[in-house]
Amino acid sequence: MADTNYDVLVIGSGPGGYVAAIRAAQLGLKTACAEGRETLGGTCLNVGCIPSKAMLHASELYEEAHSGALKKFGINIEGATLDLDQMHAEKAKAVTELTGGIAFLFKKNKVDWLKGYATFESANSVKVGGQTITAKNIIIATGSSVTPLPGVAVDNDAKIIVDSTGALALPKVPDHLVVIGGGVIGLELGSVWKRLGARVTVVEFLDQILPGMDEEVRTESAKLFKKQGFDFRLGTKVTGATVANGKATLTVESSKGGAAETIEADAVLVAIGRRPNTEGLALDKAGLAVNAKGQVDTDHDFRTSVPGIWAIGDVITGPMLAHKAEDEGLACAENIAGQTGIVNHAVIPSVVYTMPEIAGVGLTEEAAKALGEIKVGKFPFAANSRAKTNRDTDGFVKIIADAKSDRVLGVWIISSLAGTLIAEACIAMEFGATSEDIAYTCHAHPTHAEAIKEAAMAVRGKAIHI
Ligand code: FAD
Ligand code: NAI
Repeated sequence: MADTNYDVLVIGSGPGGYVAAIRAAQLGLKTACAEGRETLGGTCLNVGCIPSKAMLHASELYEEAHSGALKKFGINIEGATLDLDQMHAEKAKAVTELTGGIAFLFKKNKVDWLKGYATFESANSVKVGGQTITAKNIIIATGSSVTPLPGVAVDNDAKIIVDSTGALALPKVPDHLVVIGGGVIGLELGSVWKRLGARVTVVEFLDQILPGMDEEVRTESAKLFKKQGFDFRLGTKVTGATVANGKATLTVESSKGGAAETIEADAVLVAIGRRPNTEGLALDKAGLAVNAKGQVDTDHDFRTSVPGIWAIGDVITGPMLAHKAEDEGLACAENIAGQTGIVNHAVIPSVVYTMPEIAGVGLTEEAAKALGEIKVGKFPFAANSRAKTNRDTDGFVKIIADAKSDRVLGVWIISSLAGTLIAEACIAMEFGATSEDIAYTCHAHPTHAEAIKEAAMAVRGKAIHI
């Protein structure tokens, strides 16, 4: 009979769980990872980051080829057509390759993959696939799932009212897609279907899209999305939905209340946030409870209130992001092994992979102002030589620095390459850089990255190219 005693058992194989399992095994701990899905990789690899980016990339290529946008570069493409089945197939291939890659890494690092949903039996034992597994340390990395909207029943099989998983697999382009929620998922998947030909309406409860981001970035993004043809119904709430004859009818009204009206849609995407996965874990048997937000509470080392039980990723507090979960996975495994694993939660970038991309790290201008005196430097891509050359001038870089120490407190970027550019800001902030440090760092020419240097120079009012 297989040995069912482990040093570390990880529950969930998303970016948090699989990374924690691999690092624990690398550190010499006998490790297993339980996963309820058929494949490893969690939300991110199976139905999140990876398939959404595959569809964003493919839809962008289609739009470029189809819309005549390349004409100005002397490239005439006649008769570009969409083969949506092939687009889905290529996405599925990327997912299979990446989830298979985790299985390979588990084998390589001798992590045992336990198939099935895990349920606590006690603080150090768990039932998975009919077997009882004991472990000195158990890491809860069960992730999150879609927050339901009362009155709007998601049915991914019927393909009319769907969540993000359904929206990644629509079998045809809807004439009119209504997205409920102007957050990250709504804008990314709204962009996919817009590029493929849908009319897209975003119904957002608040008066602005992209909550949590810098105000100026939110306003500018909304302007750019409107230019692309998105229709925004801000300050609006959906109160119910019905489906008949292959169409959905949504009832909406002002968020503050008022007269109801209806919107017809061929498809509806519900994207109003995600909530932690703890149902079915029988946390009470381990002596654990969830907080008011349904999360598992931990300390800074990712220990829960029960010795030997740890938690990371979407199931604990903080932004629900794959790289945040990964970093917590690494740190948690290192702490279990007696090392000092730390995550600097003040420097976690967030990126919206639309076109242009929208990225930020650290404080918003509003949050920084509330804490003390600041200086802000901004530089538009309209004045960046590479962006001008590429005819790609939407957006800007904004750097927020402490007025006295000049230390960088936050960086916000709207640009086709924002998701890649923000890494420079993360390194700078992790090392406690001042805006002057960035301004006096040589940046290659001609690159979009020079806009970061110019924004840093602008903090002291001394940008060159504007
Ligand atoms: P998850 O990835 O959710 O993994 C948890 C795993 O645990 C799941 O596989 C689940 O089946 C398993 N599980 C749950 N309960 C049990 C149990 N009892 N027993 C066994 N297994 C269990 N983030 C980014 O940073 N960048 C992006 O571009 C991005 N794009 C996204 C796009 C979409 C459409 C969505 C929905 C999310 C996206 N995210 C993105 C968010 C990202 O997917 C999550 O933040 C990340 O997956 C969280 O990792 P995790 O390890 O905490 O949990
Ligand atoms: P979100 O929190 O980003 O946005 C939800 C939006 O819905 C908010 O603007 C909110 O005000 C609005 N809303 C809430 N209730 C509403 C209602 N009843 N009617 C209308 N609007 C309503 O959540 P989203 O987009 O579902 O994404 C979930 C999480 O997944 C994100 O928090 C993010 O962490 C992660 N994600 C990250 C991605 C990335 O890093 N690029 C991509 C996709 C998801």
